[in-house]
Order: sequence, then C-alpha cells, then structure tokens
Amino acid sequence: MDNIMQKWSKDIDGVYMPKKFLTMQDKINNWEVNESDVWIVSFPKTGTTWTQEMVWLILNDLDYKRAEKNLLKRSPQLEAAALVRYPHVKFFLPFIPRAITDSLNYVKKQQSPVCIKTHLPWNLLPKEIQKDIKRPKIIYISRNPKDTCVSYYHFCRLVKDFDGTLEEFCNLFLYGKVNFAPYWDHILPFWKRRNQQNVLFLKYEELKENLPSVIERVAAFLGKKLNADQINKLADHLSFENMKNNKAVNYDWLVKLSSIYKPDKANTFMRVGKVGGYKSAMSEEMIERFDRWTREHTKDIDLEF
Ligand code: A3P
Repeated sequence: MDNIMQKWSKDIDGVYMPKKFLTMQDKINNWEVNESDVWIVSFPKTGTTWTQEMVWLILNDLDYKRAEKNLLKRSPQLEAAALVRYPHVKFFLPFIPRAITDSLNYVKKQQSPVCIKTHLPWNLLPKEIQKDIKRPKIIYISRNPKDTCVSYYHFCRLVKDFDGTLEEFCNLFLYGKVNFAPYWDHILPFWKRRNQQNVLFLKYEELKENLPSVIERVAAFLGKKLNADQINKLADHLSFENMKNNKAVNYDWLVKLSSIYKPDKANTFMRVGKVGGYKSAMSEEMIERFDRWTREHTKDIDLEF
C-alpha cells in the first residue's frame, strides 16, 4: 500500500487528479454557476475546514445551532465523489454521506447561498467562472508550502492514500504528483486575481496571527456587519482547541473509518494547527529544496508566507 494515490491518479489537464474525476469533469465544466453562492477554493491542507466554518457561520447569521450539523453537509465539496475511489473504501460506502458519494447532485440540491468547497484549481473550475461570465464570491485560502506538505503527508497516511516516508511524500509534492498539484499552478492564478472584486485571497498564517481581523475582512467581503462581541465569540468558536473538539468539523468519523482499515492512533484531522511545524519535521536539505523551489516560482511577484 505504499502509494495508493499514484495508482488511482493521473494528469488531467495538467493537474494530478483521481482518475474518477474524468467522470464528472464535463459536468463541472458546464456547471451552471449561481452568483449568490460562495466558493471556498484551496489546495488541500491549507486551512479549508477552518475557513469553511468561518464563512458558513458569517453567511448564516452566526446560527450556532444549525452549525451543529456536519460541515461537510453544510459546505459540501463539489468534486468529493471523485475522491471516494479506492477498493478498500467500497465496503464502507453505505456509511459515507451522500454529500460525498453523490457530491454534484447534493450541491445542486442545496438552497443558495451555498458555501461550495473545492480543491479544484482555476483551470478545472466551471467555465462560467473561468470565462468571467459569472462572478460568484470566491474565497481562496492559502498556506506556506512546507506546512501544507507536512499536513498533507499526515492526512494521506491517515486516510491510507500513502504509506511511505515524509521525504518520499515531499518529493511527490515538489514534482506535482499529489492530488490537486502542482501547488504553484493552484495558488498563482488566484493570487493574480486577488484584487478582483469577487475574490478574497487569504493566508492560513494571517488567520493564525489575527483571527478577529480576518473575520472582520471576511464579513465585509460577504456584505455582513459583525459587532465586537460577535467577532470575539466567533473567534473563540474557531480556535484550534474548540474545532478539534467539535464533532461537526473535526472529521472524527473519517478518522474512525480509516482506523477500521488500519489503526493510526497518533493521527487526527485536526493535527497541530501551527505555523512553522515543518521545521521539526523536514530535514535541512528538504527545507532548502522547498525554499529554492518557492523562490523560482515567486521571483517576479511579492507573494510571501
Ligand atoms: P495541520 O495538519 O498542520 O495541523 P484543511 O482543512 O485544508 O484540510 O487543513 C487542515 C489543516 O488546518 C490541519 O493542519 C488542521 O489542523 C488545520 N486547522 C484546522 N482548523 C484549525 C484551527 N481552528 N486553527 C488552526 N489550524 C486549524
């Protein structure tokens, strides 16, 4: 089971995707975009869940009661069905929510405004978005590539997509052979559009540094006004500790399901939630490779983490 992800993935229009994505690519390309929906777009492991919970609550007037429903049903992932692809998961299919197994139809049936989560890069989004025919609000969440890679490695081990070492995983990440990669092809098109009126570009590191101020920015972007008490309460709800203990967002069910296949007690979805954790995980040489690679891709722009 060294690297199951590679066995079930291939390059699709320059993106390393689960092959099953081919069965939905046309439907997504021709997706009828509703401009009142909000799209939360990200490369995996950059703080998507954190952003989704924030955006959903702001959009739904801080309805903490309704937020007890699982986030994956409140803010479904458009292409989720493509990720349920491995033979060992088949046995568990009846236990996996329809929001995942039948994601396209599930998203379609939700009442707008829907908080649509997607890891799809710009060139795989609906053509109405790419061609600027429709302009729904898009919130892109990014994170420094080294922490993203370490987080992705632990996640892939957790869901049994990968069973190798961190060093092996880093190589796949750098060569764009993990799902939704290449990393820079993902982030840069949104960075370029960051000043577009319907786009908000966020960094995980900003959320860590000053969550209340990010909440305020997101609220303003969504056309909502929150007072100081509301912001502080939401920031508390979104703290790492509270999210780790919140069953509606902590993916406990996924951890449990994955453990049936092969227990991994040390690993959780809400893992450490820190900036710079890569320093104690990656070798000096690997850090240097990532830094060189980052410099190459950002030499003409002022994107920094
Ligand atoms: P780590 O593995 O580094 O801990 P995604 O939702 O895109 O899959 O991202 C998951 C990453 O976001 C994990 O990172 C997870 O711990 C972190 N995360 C989730 N909620 C968080 C929060 N409230 N505060 C800080 N980090 C959070």
